Amino acid sequence: MKVVSTQRSQVLAGRLSNALNIPVIDTRWQKFPDGEIYVRAMQPAEKVIICGSVLTSDDLVELLLLKDAFSSSDVTLIIPYMGYARQDKQFNPGEPLSARAIAQILGKNTSRVYTVNIHEKSVLNHFHTEATDVSLSGPAAEFIRTLSLNNPLILSPDEGALLLARDVASHGSWESDYLQKTRISGEQVRIEPKSVSVSERDVVIIDDIISTGGTQATAAAMLYDQGARSIHTMGIHGVLASGAYTRLTSAGIDSISCSDTIERACSTYSAASVLAGYL
Ligand code: R5P
Repeated sequence: MKVVSTQRSQVLAGRLSNALNIPVIDTRWQKFPDGEIYVRAMQPAEKVIICGSVLTSDDLVELLLLKDAFSSSDVTLIIPYMGYARQDKQFNPGEPLSARAIAQILGKNTSRVYTVNIHEKSVLNHFHTEATDVSLSGPAAEFIRTLSLNNPLILSPDEGALLLARDVASHGSWESDYLQKTRISGEQVRIEPKSVSVSERDVVIIDDIISTGGTQATAAAMLYDQGARSIHTMGIHGVLASGAYTRLTSAGIDSISCSDTIERACSTYSAASVLAGYL
């Protein structure tokens, strides 16, 4: 067994190689003058783990090309961050079910698929092969421990992400809750935890994805007004689009962290050990 990755997931592939004690396949990536992608894996493998997050359309094409390069191998596919998973329903007539389109194409000629904290679990059914979603609640909790917070309160930005917050909180026997939005007037909303006060508390807001950071920045401003002592924002997947990092730091957030499903300067914890446990 060997591991190979797209450009996007080189660090995680290296960590998987260490955790599983298997070689990484040396790989070359180039772009043709017209923008087309060229990939070449420098060694063959009978059994291969292909690791590639899909953040952009180029990432998807690169992953498809790499899969094709191993079309005669037994392929285990890891999609640490699966973009397009948020379009998991046809919300309006004429829309595609984008998550299904991506899953169907990536599931072909693949023995098994692993995703990490996928936005919506029902997407796994569209791969048409054995597909498992793994959770990074353990490594996220281990990272929170390193912040040396005083009895932190783990919040999810909405009820939908409460399970993740609860799961993370359970690793440290911490309290958890979710943020509720109440409309006060046409322009004004109030965001506060459903039942636990943030006054004098160290707060961690955790979401599956930090995209523009807007959700967490807005929540943080209100939680500081309600007396929070410190606010730390965590995402499993640091998409960090449209100046998200700056938006969060300018909102006074004390720390920003995400995992290495998308490799960022603020990737403070890894998916490698949890994934290795499944492989
Ligand atoms: C929503 O579907 C996700 O779970 C996140 O809550 C969302 O992507 C966060 O978006 P943003 O960072 O742009 O507020």
